Amino acid sequence: MTVEKCGIWVLGYGSLIYKPPPHYTHRIPAVIYGFMRRFWQSSVDHRGTPDSPGRVVTLIPHDEIMKTPRFLQDYVKYENHGNPITNLQPNDLHTIGVVYYIPADRADEVREYLDVREQNGYTLHEVEVHLDLTESDSSDQELMAAIHQLPEHETTGKKVLTTNVYIGTVNNEAFVGPETIEQTASVIATNVGPSGTNFDYLRMLCESMASMKTCEETDKYLEHLFKEVNRIRDTL
Ligand code: SIN
Repeated sequence: MTVEKCGIWVLGYGSLIYKPPPHYTHRIPAVIYGFMRRFWQSSVDHRGTPDSPGRVVTLIPHDEIMKTPRFLQDYVKYENHGNPITNLQPNDLHTIGVVYYIPADRADEVREYLDVREQNGYTLHEVEVHLDLTESDSSDQELMAAIHQLPEHETTGKKVLTTNVYIGTVNNEAFVGPETIEQTASVIATNVGPSGTNFDYLRMLCESMASMKTCEETDKYLEHLFKEVNRIRDTL
């Protein structure tokens, strides 16, 4: 196994965190800088239906946030305690996810599987992630040798890797943002699709995040959304 030439790396920041792709051999927590995670992608095939779309996550890049005042306002509201920000830098945005390594002999099969699973508006991109190796099995010599070859980021000191990722870009037909947490929560609280309830998608994502030792700090947007969805569900 060499990191660049064999197999593929895939980043999960939503359902892929708790429902991994098939046939992976390694799962490593990772941080992506320069994006914020939002439930602004509608779902008609997993957590909703064409008549009643649910909401799933996508990643909003720094340049789109800077171009779109309502995206920036949303960041300020949920991630910056409401304090105005004039000079948001890509490194101010960070999202926790996990990367999976799929070996070469399974790469085509897994890519085909993911292309179908992520078809509702997501497209395949490449991003740089910073690996958090604190939980990695250091006795796995093959993995450690592959990781050793990776460059180290000058600021974070973490190993960086370029990985595949499925993103619902802001101009895809299923993008619904920006929505307030209250609007998104009212959709998530009640919707159901072929993969299960929209509430379970959010719950499993929040539980996975909570169980990751990597998470130095909590995702305030996710926490707030989960609380609001639970509040609505208590009133039903
Ligand atoms: C992902 O998990 O990385 C993509 C978004 C999703 O399918 O929830």
